[in-house]
Amino acid sequence: MAVVAVELAGRSYEVLVGEDLLDSAAVHARRFIEPYGKRKVPVVADREARHHHGDRLAHSLATSGHEIAWFIVEPGEASKSWVGLQSLVDWLLDQGIARSDHVFALGGGVVGDLAGFACAILKRGCGFVQLPTTLLAQVDSSVGGKTAINTALGKNLVGAFHQPSLVLADLSTLSTLPARELRAGYAEILKYGILGDSVFFEWLEERGDAVLALEPEALEHAVTVSVSAKARIVAEDERETIGARALLNLGHTFGHALEAATGFSDRLLHGEAVALGMVLAARYSARMGFIAHGDAERITGLVDAAGLPAEIAALNLGCDGQSLVGYMLHDKKMDAGTLPFILLHEIGAAYLDRNVKLDDVSAFLDEQLKVH
Ligand SMILES: NC(=O)c1ccc[n+]([C@@H]2O[C@H](COP(=O)([O-])OP(=O)(O)OC[C@H]3O[C@@H](n4cnc5c(N)ncnc54)[C@H](O)[C@@H]3O)[C@@H](O)[C@H]2O)c1
Repeated sequence: MAVVAVELAGRSYEVLVGEDLLDSAAVHARRFIEPYGKRKVPVVADREARHHHGDRLAHSLATSGHEIAWFIVEPGEASKSWVGLQSLVDWLLDQGIARSDHVFALGGGVVGDLAGFACAILKRGCGFVQLPTTLLAQVDSSVGGKTAINTALGKNLVGAFHQPSLVLADLSTLSTLPARELRAGYAEILKYGILGDSVFFEWLEERGDAVLALEPEALEHAVTVSVSAKARIVAEDERETIGARALLNLGHTFGHALEAATGFSDRLLHGEAVALGMVLAARYSARMGFIAHGDAERITGLVDAAGLPAEIAALNLGCDGQSLVGYMLHDKKMDAGTLPFILLHEIGAAYLDRNVKLDDVSAFLDEQLKVH
């Protein structure tokens, strides 16, 4: 098991990464469970995560004499809604949750974001523990304190920064994750190598297959390096005010346009859009002369080898570069009239560029839409 500390003034917490952590959750999370005494411990759970892994958590809590009160969340983005939030908050109030209590969130980013936001506003903020069960949640969404729901106007538009008190990333939960979801989470692992760690990037070129095959040692290494990278960036720029945290958006500006063009549907999962977005950011960086074309193609090769989409032309979007740029302009990350892009000086060295010319991006995308 690896332990990664997220160092934040007054609110530091640990992320534990390892196999079978849910089986010993009562030990690792003892100080958050004990205060429940005879009350049931509230667990907000994705339906699939509850089905596959809920019993292990329940057995562990039973060893310390605790029962669980389950709140089941239906899989899918639609659960991250005002309605979903309202019913969760009402349920938590009904459970008599006090400000000093901790709510447990078992599932992927949907459950983590929803439960985290409910905990941010419940009685002006109660505690929560993340038990992420998707690769994306383990390496990204469960760490860093961003919580949110979606509204009719877009994704993650209403939310709060609210850090968990503990994260248990149980790698054995990934064995039941659909392969496509696993690859989507793997895209975020690639992101950490591409944006800030060329050694890790090279390691992924060698060992990426083993990570995707869930080989324990390789998987633990990849998740731990990723969580450590996120922890470092979050510690430096918790609320995304000085630019460091913005680097985590590598691939997201292009990716957002692709998600919008495919209607935020199953046609393209978020992680898949980020993967292709990173290829586009790398190729655009090469076009601007910032990185070598060969490096952009190494990134493309790694994305492609993982079975992630690497060519925009293959998506048959039926739109042009200008309309993709139009989608980007509606992204909430648009700041003071400029559209910040995360580009690359080299593999492992991303930077925030506020001077990108949108006409040029549009022309670049037109070229990419043709090439295949
Ligand atoms: N807060 C952040 O910093 C942050 C960062 C990135 C993404 N997000 C958010 O995370 C969400 C996406 O998260 P996600 O990719 O984890 O998706 P998700 O929560 O929708 O889970 C994906 C699918 O996997 C299923 N599932 C979960 N665990 C499983 C398991 N162990 N076995 C089998 N099936 C399982 C779910 O039922 C669901 O169908 C988005 O809403 C996104 O906005 C938040």
